[in-house]
Amino acid sequence: MEIVETIAEMKALRRQSFGSVGFVPTMGYLHDGHLALVKRARNENSVVVVSIFVNPTQFGPAEDFSAYPRDTERDLALLEKERTDIVFMPSDKEVYPEAFSSWVEVGKVTEPLEGSRRPGHFKGVTTVVAKLFNIVEPTRAYFGQKDAQQATVIKKMVADLNMNLEIIVVPTVRESDGVAMSSRNVYLNPQERQAAAVLFRALTLAQGLWKGGERNAERLRQEMVSLISKEPLAKIDYVSIADAETLEELLEIDRPALASLAVRFGKTRLIDNIVL
Ligand code: PAJ
Repeated sequence: MEIVETIAEMKALRRQSFGSVGFVPTMGYLHDGHLALVKRARNENSVVVVSIFVNPTQFGPAEDFSAYPRDTERDLALLEKERTDIVFMPSDKEVYPEAFSSWVEVGKVTEPLEGSRRPGHFKGVTTVVAKLFNIVEPTRAYFGQKDAQQATVIKKMVADLNMNLEIIVVPTVRESDGVAMSSRNVYLNPQERQAAAVLFRALTLAQGLWKGGERNAERLRQEMVSLISKEPLAKIDYVSIADAETLEELLEIDRPALASLAVRFGKTRLIDNIVL
């Protein structure tokens, strides 16, 4: 496994690579959710590249950039075990030199949900992902369904800007109680961690109602809100039933829909979703 820290070295290795390149961008502190993307990339490509970069431009001023968990040594051991070929871990200065001034902004699909609560977040994500795509030049890049809006935004960027790669979305990996794996779960105290299971219960409830024929989106939102409100440690940020493609809120579920939510437990904000 090659570990590279500069863009020049990464580009040089890319030029020497034969066959398809599968790329998994991450912010490190890896768990089984990240590793599911790496395994899928390993199965489908000759060369696997994983990046570890905690991207400062996607964090708001009041968010957890400096506190974001990091454990490079452990990450590298896990990636080695998954037979990763190249780990790209640039410094902040390498990615954003002093004079950096260009940004990638994707329109409408960045506005609702996470976009409305985290101004500038997706501009940071699309800018860094576009840069990483230009540096790594992958055949395929792998994203998690866990961050459904992020995957939608990246797909839109790739289509709108005619980028030459395929985006593959991998199902959410969950703990045994249904909690979606996330680097941020380490912030939860034991009570909050237990309470967090209410998210998946709410999504499963919505899915059950939908499977039973309920098509009124507001009814599903209300049922989810009422279930989550029974958990005293949970503070709802949003509960959404939206068009799975445009992410616009639905009145009637007459097409593929995304049930998604953001809920706070103490200082930790968790997101999760399920497709109807
Ligand atoms: P990060 O939060 O480290 O996530 C990296 C990738 O792992 C994302 O595509 C995310 O959706 C996926 N992932 C996280 N938890 C998952 C789970 N439980 N199951 C399946 N996939 C999961 O997302 C980012 O980093 C950044 O925004 C990034 C794309 C790297 C740009 O900076």
